[in-house]
Amino acid sequence: MICVLPYLLYILLIMLPVNESASTEDIDVLIILPKNNSYHFSISMVAPAIDYAQKKMKSVNGLYSGLNFNFHYENSNCGDEALFRLVDRSCQKKPDLILGPVCEYAAAPVARMASHWNIPVISAGALASGFSYKKEYSHLTRVAPSYLKMAETFSAMFHRFNWKNAFLIYEDDMDQRNCYFTLEGVHNILKTENVHIDALNIHSKDNKVDSDEIIKLIYDSEVIIMCAGADIIRDIMLAAHRRRLTNGSYIFFNIELFNSSSYGNGSWKRGDKFDMDAKQAYATLNTVTLLRTVKPEFEDFSMEVKKSLQKAGIRHCDSDNINVFVEGFHDALLLYAMAIVEVKQNGSNKTDGAQITQHMWNRTFEGIAGPVSIDANGDRYGDFSVMAMVDHETGTYEDVINYFGINGSFQMLPRFNNDRFTLRARHQMSMPDYSTKSCGLGVSAVTGITFGALLGAALLMAFYFFRKNYRITIERRTSRDIGKHRQLREDSIQSSFSTA
Ligand SMILES: *[C@@H]1O[C@H](CO)[C@@H](O)[C@H](O)[C@H]1NC(C)=O
Ligand SMILES: *[C@@H]1O[C@H](CO)[C@@H](O)[C@H](O)[C@H]1NC(C)=O
Ligand SMILES: *[C@@H]1O[C@H](CO)[C@@H](O)[C@H](O)[C@H]1NC(C)=O
Ligand SMILES: *[C@@H]1O[C@H](CO)[C@@H](O)[C@H](O)[C@H]1NC(C)=O
Ligand SMILES: *[C@@H]1O[C@H](CO)[C@@H](O)[C@H](O)[C@H]1NC(C)=O
Ligand SMILES: *[C@@H]1O[C@H](CO)[C@@H](O)[C@H](O)[C@H]1NC(C)=O
Ligand SMILES: *[C@@H]1O[C@H](CO)[C@@H](O)[C@H](O)[C@H]1NC(C)=O
Ligand SMILES: *[C@@H]1O[C@H](CO)[C@@H](O)[C@H](O)[C@H]1NC(C)=O
Repeated sequence: MICVLPYLLYILLIMLPVNESASTEDIDVLIILPKNNSYHFSISMVAPAIDYAQKKMKSVNGLYSGLNFNFHYENSNCGDEALFRLVDRSCQKKPDLILGPVCEYAAAPVARMASHWNIPVISAGALASGFSYKKEYSHLTRVAPSYLKMAETFSAMFHRFNWKNAFLIYEDDMDQRNCYFTLEGVHNILKTENVHIDALNIHSKDNKVDSDEIIKLIYDSEVIIMCAGADIIRDIMLAAHRRRLTNGSYIFFNIELFNSSSYGNGSWKRGDKFDMDAKQAYATLNTVTLLRTVKPEFEDFSMEVKKSLQKAGIRHCDSDNINVFVEGFHDALLLYAMAIVEVKQNGSNKTDGAQITQHMWNRTFEGIAGPVSIDANGDRYGDFSVMAMVDHETGTYEDVINYFGINGSFQMLPRFNNDRFTLRARHQMSMPDYSTKSCGLGVSAVTGITFGALLGAALLMAFYFFRKNYRITIERRTSRDIGKHRQLREDSIQSSFSTA
């Protein structure tokens, strides 16, 4: 009897794979996103898109019929909870696929853990530069264009218009730090292009900054690139206008990727006595946003998702359009399905996370809103637009430049005006004490503002910060005085030497 048992087992083992490939395969998908609907990528926002993707796949004849997805949603909030949910959830059985998280500090530990467990992770977020380092995040695929991809728009413009130096201004909330990571991308790209870069980190109190003080620092620069709240941008533009920096000798940009409804037509308008000045000032402000494409199928998708959202009682009236995260997670499921089908044809299965991940990289497929191209490093190429005021009377905006990441080319739109992007010569001006001030890493006399020196010193590899997340959280909860922030930055300087 005893010697028959191994034999029986052997037969079973031979039979199993045959049965497997013929029948459906269960794929456990863990979706880790915030529950809080104040995020553009909350569970309730994204779930209808994922359901839609699954429904569409079922209707494609046969191709995906062998896949049976089981979805589990976990609330990540925006921090370490994401990791805890993953670990708790995986005690009995690990998921086969992870979708999300979006927030940088949530995504970092999850993506690292998943690499260790050989589970593919696909996110429409995790946009910070540090995630490009796929030695550490080997199983992470990003289906939304990262900040580095966005920054290529700038390096291409610097080339084309022959600009030589940049001043970066970013608002650092010390929490999710979206603007910090956004301009970190710009910095990392421009520094490889021989562009001289200065940077200023603003910690606003009640959305107020000393914009006159800021203006003094940018006299020497040509191109000013900002990422901050709409009110701060307006303050800075007003101050620039007062000091006549909007005369063509400076070029201003702000970056608004996900909330572009707050820019464009009427963004200068507040109904206060500064509206007229603001309109004039904004005539020199260009806004970089994601280039949105639509195709007929998208309408159907958009309708279905909105219907589900209404049913769930979610009002996101400010963003009438389906956003890039919702779209991205739809495409993420599709991308995974294509990869797993190929992997199965190759005789492997869902447990081979590394091979599945490889099949998702370096390919182009048709997403819900248009073609999606993932580069050989597993990051999506991005398309971006530059919006500018085209009518100075009415203050209306239009897209003037499109940038296509996949071939690095521009499309100049009908309302593009070359003069606007050409720096006008400056009269020689004596520089008072400002220059010395902007070189120092010193603390400004102005409360609430810390002067960063080079971003190179301040913004280092983002993944270091992820490791220090705990610490940052502590920092945030303790007093917000300048000394604390300085200490944080010194940490990052140390890290550059220790990790390099
Ligand atoms: C959701 O997030 C917003 C903004 O961060 C916060 O004010 C609110 O308290 C959160 N709601 C819940 C239920 O946590
Ligand atoms: C988008 O911009 C509007 C207007 O500035 C603002 O009220 C809203 O809070 C922003 N939404 C997000 C998610 O940042
Ligand atoms: C601004 O308004 C004009 C005219 O109403 C419209 O053609 C244009 O598309 C709008 N631009 C943006 C960015 O909303
Ligand atoms: C097919 O599977 C083999 C063995 O698992 C692997 O070495 C090979 O790279 C796979 N081919 C592709 C195209 O992924
Ligand atoms: C999946 O493949 C691995 C190795 O390639 C194998 O050990 C495992 O039994 C397979 N699992 C299933 C469910 O077929
Ligand atoms: C990406 O795919 C193309 C063909 O589609 C191939 O020629 C190229 O070698 C691939 N690149 C990498 C890094 O795998
Ligand atoms: C670059 O790609 C875009 C989008 O795919 C396309 O419309 C454009 O014609 C391409 N440009 C060049 C110069 O190949
Ligand atoms: C614009 O203003 C700046 C600062 O006041 C000055 O240096 C520059 O020469 C002016 N440019 C022109 C074209 O007037």
